[in-house]
Amino acid sequence: MSLKSIIIGTGHFVPPNVVTNLDLEKKMNTTDEWIRQRSGIVERHYVEPGVGSSDLGYEAAQRAIDDANIDKSEIDFIIAATLSPDHYFPGIGVMVQAKLGLSGIGALDVRNQCTGFIYALSVADQYIKAQTYKKILVVAAEVQTSNLDYSDDGRDLAVLFGDGGAAVILEPNDKDDGKGILSTHLFSDGNYISDLWMEKPSPKDNPTFKKEYFDEKKYYPRMSGRNVFKNASEKMPAAVRTALEHNNITIEDVDHLLPHQANDRISLMVARNLRIPVEKVIRNIDRMGNTTAASIPIALDEALKNGRIKEGDTVVLTAFGSGYTWGSAVIQF
Ligand code: ACO
Repeated sequence: MSLKSIIIGTGHFVPPNVVTNLDLEKKMNTTDEWIRQRSGIVERHYVEPGVGSSDLGYEAAQRAIDDANIDKSEIDFIIAATLSPDHYFPGIGVMVQAKLGLSGIGALDVRNQCTGFIYALSVADQYIKAQTYKKILVVAAEVQTSNLDYSDDGRDLAVLFGDGGAAVILEPNDKDDGKGILSTHLFSDGNYISDLWMEKPSPKDNPTFKKEYFDEKKYYPRMSGRNVFKNASEKMPAAVRTALEHNNITIEDVDHLLPHQANDRISLMVARNLRIPVEKVIRNIDRMGNTTAASIPIALDEALKNGRIKEGDTVVLTAFGSGYTWGSAVIQF
């Protein structure tokens, strides 16, 4: 029997400020109808100025620790995923560590954007299986709403994003009960970085910050929406198929598909491609918007807490995002 990583606690935290599509209508050239039709989003959460992704990650981590019913001093490693760290450097792993009062343990930062949680989970899984660490905190948190272009140039992205954080705690499971992470598969293709990126600031420029880049709006995230839509709709099903084959199971064996909440139309395309009934697809983008690395663990925590995911269920996670990066994970609860 082989050692598996098991999730023993989950938690999430979103800032209280809810921004509806109607609120966005007041500040930019968009409509509730356009946003709902193209993305399925109705509302999302925005942080107040001064709140960073380390703060959201810390709150989520506290909730996961409480849920796991452990003493936080048992955590022996932290992995943090974000594309929106509080500072250019260092990353938020050490900041979450310091806020938790866990000085000394290792803290690794993962930079894989929307696929960040699956990459972080995969790394944690390997450390647990290698018996390097016994309790790993995986945290994913994003503050994206402080740097969005609300003009017509950036309105495609500005309506999608929300802020939030989530965390899970992993430990080894040596029981013969089948529970735990059954597989993770990670992929990338760096030929398409400019399809979804924030080009500047770049240390390649000297000086790094230039007025003309501000004027050219290069400090905002940019997306080639159609390319992202097409690739996300193809790559997530492919990653899921790889996972199913690896575990020698079929899509009928899957109780819940939890895709990265990029855009509800993408999630529905993924479901159609995989021929999985839409009732089995976990979707909360209507209330959360796209929270990048945090989207999967937020939805996972909600589905565990509201009883949708039950003991014995097989859950498949899949994500696609900037890089391009994409991947999948299969978890038996
Ligand atoms: N409100 C109103 N109109 C808008 C908005 C907005 N927020 N954004 C763009 N438009 C306009 C465009 O300017 C364009 O106007 P025009 O016809 O006068 O030129 C019109 O809507 C249609 O624009 P298109 O880009 O042709 O629309 P498309 O059908 O491709 O839809 C969209 C755009 C929704 C972005 C689509 O490409 C998409 O869903 N892409 C996937 C992107 C995504 O979900 N990314 C998630 C983040 S990345 C990730 O998490 C993986």
